[in-house]
Order: sequence, then C-alpha cells, then structure tokens
Amino acid sequence: MLSQALLRLASAVSRRRMKLLLGVALLAYVASVWGNLVNMRSIQENGELRIESKIEEIVEPLREKIRDLEKSFTQKYPPVKFLSEKDRKRILITGGAGFVGSHLADKLMMDGHEVTVVDNFFTGRKRNVEHWIGHENFELINHDVVEPLYIEVDQIYHLASPASPPNYMYNPIKTLKTNTIGTLNMLGLAKRVGARLLLASTSEVYGDPEVHPQSEDYWGHVNPIGPRACYDEGKRVAETMCYAYMKQEGVEVRVARIFNTFGPRMHMNDGRVVSNFILQALQGEPLTVYGSGSQTRAFQYVSDLVNGLVALMNSNVSSPVNLGNPEEHTILEFAQLIKNLVGSGSEIQFLSEAQDDPQKRKPDIKKAKLMLGWEPVVPLEEGLNKAIHYFRKELEYQANNQYIPKPKPARIKKGRMRHS
Ligand SMILES: NC(=O)c1ccc[n+]([C@@H]2O[C@H](COP(=O)([O-])OP(=O)(O)OC[C@H]3O[C@@H](n4cnc5c(N)ncnc54)[C@H](O)[C@@H]3O)[C@@H](O)[C@H]2O)c1
Repeated sequence: MLSQALLRLASAVSRRRMKLLLGVALLAYVASVWGNLVNMRSIQENGELRIESKIEEIVEPLREKIRDLEKSFTQKYPPVKFLSEKDRKRILITGGAGFVGSHLADKLMMDGHEVTVVDNFFTGRKRNVEHWIGHENFELINHDVVEPLYIEVDQIYHLASPASPPNYMYNPIKTLKTNTIGTLNMLGLAKRVGARLLLASTSEVYGDPEVHPQSEDYWGHVNPIGPRACYDEGKRVAETMCYAYMKQEGVEVRVARIFNTFGPRMHMNDGRVVSNFILQALQGEPLTVYGSGSQTRAFQYVSDLVNGLVALMNSNVSSPVNLGNPEEHTILEFAQLIKNLVGSGSEIQFLSEAQDDPQKRKPDIKKAKLMLGWEPVVPLEEGLNKAIHYFRKELEYQANNQYIPKPKPARIKKGRMRHS
C-alpha cells in the first residue's frame, strides 16, 4: 500500500517536473527563435542602411544635376507683353545675333511677338540673345542668308551684313554676296509668304557726300571700285532690288538708311571711333585719330534706332528714310569727351587719313520726324556712359583683361597680280 502510494507520488512529481521542463524548454526555444529573429532583423536593418547610403551616394549628384536643369528650365526671362492672336506677328530678324539685331529682338520679344533670329555668327554671337533662348516665342537659327530660307513669317527685318569697315573689308566678296544674293533670298521669301520686308540700308549709300546734311533725295557720291565699295555698292544694289520687287511683284518694302549707331553689344573689333576710343581710353592706350580729327560724325544710341526701325516697319512709308542723330561732332571732340567720361589719362595720337573716309556725315531727319513722328531722344553722354559700362565689363570678362582692337586685314590671295 505504502509502496503504491509512493509510486503515485513519484509519478505525479515527475509529471509536474516534466511539464516544468517542457515549459522551460519551450520558453528557451521561443527565446532563441526570438533572439534569432531580432538578430536577423538587425543584420537586415544594417544591410538596408548600407544599401540606402550607397544609393544616396549615387543619387545625390543626379539630384544636383536635376536641380541645375530645373533652374535652367525655370530661367527668368525679361517681361513679355501678352498679345492676342490678331496682334501677335511672326517676325524674322536676319543678323539678329548682332549688335543692332539683338536689341531689336529684345524690343519685339518684349512687345509680345514671335521672333525668329537667323544668323551665321560672322560678327554676331549667341551671347547677345542668350537671355531669350528657350522662350516659347523665340527661335535662333544658324543660317547663312546667301542660302535660301523657307519659313512662314509676317515681317522680315533684313539686317544680315557685316557693318563696320574692318568686318566688311575682311572678305569683300562675301560682303557682296550677303548684300546681293542674301537680299534676293529674303525678298523671294517675302514674296512667297506675303511678308513685309525692311532693309537695314546705310548712310554709306551717300558715300563721301557733296551735300550736307544728307537728305533721302541725295543720290550719293560713291567710289564704285574703292575699298568700301563692297559694302556701299552692296547696300545700294540691295535698295534697288527692294524697289524692283515692290514694283514688279508687289512686295511691301521699307528701307531704313541707318547712320552711325553705338551702344552695348557693339563688337569689340568694330573698328569705328566710338568703340575704338572707349577701349583705348579704358586701357590707357593712346586714342588714335585718323587725319586732323576735324572730320565730323553724328552718332545715335541704339535704342533710338530700334524705335525708328519698328516705327518705319509699321508705317506706310515705302520710300527710304534716314534714321540717325543729327547732333554733329568732330572726331577730336569725341576723343576728348570719351577720355573725360572714362576719366582716362590717355594721349591723343594722330595717324594718316584712311582712304575714302567721308569728311562729313550728318543725317537730315525731317522725313522721319514728319512721317514717323520719330527722333532720337537719348542724350549723347547718357548713351556713351552705357557703352563705357558695357566695354568695361567686357574687358573684365577677357581672361587677361587686355584687349587692343586689331581689325583683321583684308583677305588677299598670295601671288596674285593686284591692280593698284
Ligand atoms: N551699326 C551701325 O552703325 C550701322 C550703320 C548703318 C547700317 N547698319 C546696318 O545695320 C545692320 C546691322 O548692323 P550691326 O551694327 O548690328 O552689325 P553686326 O555686325 O553687329 O550685325 C550683323 C549681323 O549679321 C550677321 N551676318 C553677317 N553676314 C551674314 C550672312 N551671310 N548670313 C546670316 N547672318 C549674317 C552677323 O553675324 C551679325 O550678327 C547691317 O545691315 C548694317 O549694314 C548699321
């Protein structure tokens, strides 16, 4: 009896122990599984962290690139007016990356038109119009007007041509082609699409004038075989072409006879007095005067010219119109004025006279005043100060801060017989 009771007690105790042991074992198992899980998770988390930081390393430069791109997409353009479909014109400016053309592009863009600039970048540059690149109303085409162009436009401002003596004398044949074939191509385009064309002609059509001041009915005094003839005669024949297309084909033409113009974005190698004197004065170089300095010039500021061009284009005046500032000064007076405005200690150096250099040049602008209600309004000193500021910045931009304008010599084939 006693032994049976002891057996039952022993089996009850071992069952309890067994249960206890089983419970402990279960707990240990759960704990170890839990531990493994926690361990695995921390390894996983560490791995994830490492992967994340690697991805971050690769992605960060890409993000920076995207930020740069976004910045360029959200580039701030100068303010542009909104024009209704009816008033908005599609306007082509040939030579629109040059000095005058780029200012004209600014005005037409800000007035709300759609502007296409065509340029072969002979003397123009992208920098002059870079602030419009990407704008929905603006297009820049690298094209030479000597080749035909097929686009749809309502107005054409035909400015493509080198404008300063060193530039147009550099390759006289190309200057002639640009002003003749180029003008024919643009008139052909105007005829085809029914556009109005404005030709940027020049006071050089008057040559070395025998009347003073020059009005539009003066026929001029041009040496047809002199060094300037490629430009002067090129522009004269361009005018002739305009009137032939007007009479024969009914093309609407406007002809602006532009007198000397100056302002920011003038070419550093322009070679004409204003830019030469400013650059020389800014660099403490002697101001070079050709001849006695008593020859006269009259200069208009570029914004005045641009307003005149737009007024003429939108007028009903189809005969030539002078656009210039009649305020006449001797070259010597210009030299002194620029020297003073720059505050330069440069000397004035006299050199021998240039061939066919006109002695007097002053526009008669009665016609522009009467028919366009236009006249220059920017005072000479104000314009000069803006041009001086521009050239000062341009000089700073040059790597070595030294820029003496040295016009390229004219292209002449070696070994060829030349007529004197
Ligand atoms: N600036 C003046 O004082 C002045 C005076 C009289 C007339 N103009 C006339 O005004 C116009 C503009 O003169 P600017 O002073 O701005 O000169 P610019 O040299 O700065 O501009 C002329 C532009 O025409 C471009 N060009 C030249 N040949 C070309 C071609 N074959 N195809 C396409 N593009 C071509 C040049 O790259 C340049 O961008 C010219 O027709 C010039 O004869 C200017």
